[in-house]
Amino acid sequence: MSIKTATLNGVATIEIARPEKKNALTVAMYQAMADALNAAQADPAVRAVLITGQPGIFTSGNDIEDFMSRPPGSGSASAESPVFQFMRALVGIDKPVVAAVTGAAIGIGTTLLLHCDLVYVSDEARLAMPFVSLGLVPEFASSLVVPRLLGNVKAAEKLLLGDPFTPEEAVEARIANAVLPAGEVVNHARRVAERFNALPPGAVRETKKLLRRAGTDDVLKTIAIEGELFSARLRSPEAMEAFQAFFQKRKPDFSKFS
Ligand code: COA
Repeated sequence: MSIKTATLNGVATIEIARPEKKNALTVAMYQAMADALNAAQADPAVRAVLITGQPGIFTSGNDIEDFMSRPPGSGSASAESPVFQFMRALVGIDKPVVAAVTGAAIGIGTTLLLHCDLVYVSDEARLAMPFVSLGLVPEFASSLVVPRLLGNVKAAEKLLLGDPFTPEEAVEARIANAVLPAGEVVNHARRVAERFNALPPGAVRETKKLLRRAGTDDVLKTIAIEGELFSARLRSPEAMEAFQAFFQKRKPDFSKFS
């Protein structure tokens, strides 16, 4: 299993641990993360959730081999797939979620941060949403949330061109709270998560719900709209070219597409 979970001192930790593949997320790993979030939600001993990765890598995003061989279906099949279960669990959890971004956060590695409550990034982190260069479209409501946070022209830089964020830019863009030295980011995030042990859990839950209330319906609707397009794009010749190029360690050639 490439997702490690543990609950200690009121904090349920979800650790992405597949360093040999740069923490790329498989269908089974999404399911494990969805289950861990649902378990944290149900466990009265859990006051906060911590999501973290490995030194130097948070996650390289969806496993590209899975994209090719096991793309989520469309319509209701898509809605039931583990990745959508994970998205709904993260959007729906009413306990605080803290992220420690230990290194590169690509694709869903960045978009999942948009749904965490507190985000700390390593000074070695690099965030990127290269959906277009993979022949895909944005997911996890990033097409809604990123323009709201950054404005349209900066959002185009990040989502159309796929330009990466430095850790400092992630803070400026209000995706992250602070940049920490690589060796300290996990402990810092854990200490922040543990602060919820001293706070009244009911007031924390209700406040989180209020903070997210205005946006949640739009976020869920956008996830569904993006999901339909994303599933279709996964089967597109443009995406096939991008995925094959990744595994053949070459630049993709989109010159033949119109
Ligand atoms: N899916 C499947 N395998 C992946 C992967 C992914 N998202 N990211 C990395 N890997 C695999 C590589 O294929 C390689 O496997 P191999 O050792 O069997 O050849 C291994 O992990 C190491 O990756 P590598 O690219 O050699 O590491 P790097 O340090 O040079 O680069 C990244 C790290 C994260 C910058 C780079 O791997 C990358 O860009 N990954 C793809 C990111 C992406 O496009 N994700 C999808 C977003 S929607």
